[in-house]
Amino acid sequence: MHRIVVLVSGRGSNLAAVHERCVAEGWPARVVAVVSNRADAAGLAYAAGQGIATAVVGHRDHASREAFDEALARAIDGFAPDLVLLAGFMRILGSDFVRRYDGRLLNVHPSLLPAFAGLHTHRRALAAGCKAAGATVHFVVPEVDHGPIVLQAVVPVLPGDDETSLSQRVLAAEHVIYPLAVRWFVAGQLRVEGGIVRHLGGASQVLI
Ligand code: GRF
Repeated sequence: MHRIVVLVSGRGSNLAAVHERCVAEGWPARVVAVVSNRADAAGLAYAAGQGIATAVVGHRDHASREAFDEALARAIDGFAPDLVLLAGFMRILGSDFVRRYDGRLLNVHPSLLPAFAGLHTHRRALAAGCKAAGATVHFVVPEVDHGPIVLQAVVPVLPGDDETSLSQRVLAAEHVIYPLAVRWFVAGQLRVEGGIVRHLGGASQVLI
């Protein structure tokens, strides 16, 4: 049974997508805790409603980024996770933290990485006149929004799209690929070699 800890800062729709698929499909895994840097994160309320343990590590309660990272790691390690998921976690994590969870820390990002790392991905994709957008699940490395790519989803950019309509289309794709990537992880179907992630069963790692 894989123990999953999810880090959220807000809404928590990706957390919900992973948890619901995990329960519905009976994965050999369980979301054992949700940890947030914000006490008001809706994702925490969702977790509590599901009977999932919660913890808050406020970034403002710590004097430095390093002290915050250490407190966060202590909170996470208290739940003895096999896998840690970033799901809308809006703090940049230092390299010591990232290395501690090497190979068992995933993130979902709302762009087709390596395009549009960072914030405002939809606004930037629209401004660039992109005809396709999407989302990426990747292993986390110290460089923000980089790291071995597990799975990507491609969606069209439609005439008349604005940030809201495009973000909704991409978010719906995130809710498909994040649970799928986690399912592959807990089933031991992923291998990372030379920075490239391969699905051992040959599953397509792009959804279009
Ligand atoms: C998602 O778009 C995710 O890709 C990004 O932050 C957003 C979080 O949404 N990193 P939610 O909290 O999972 O609803």
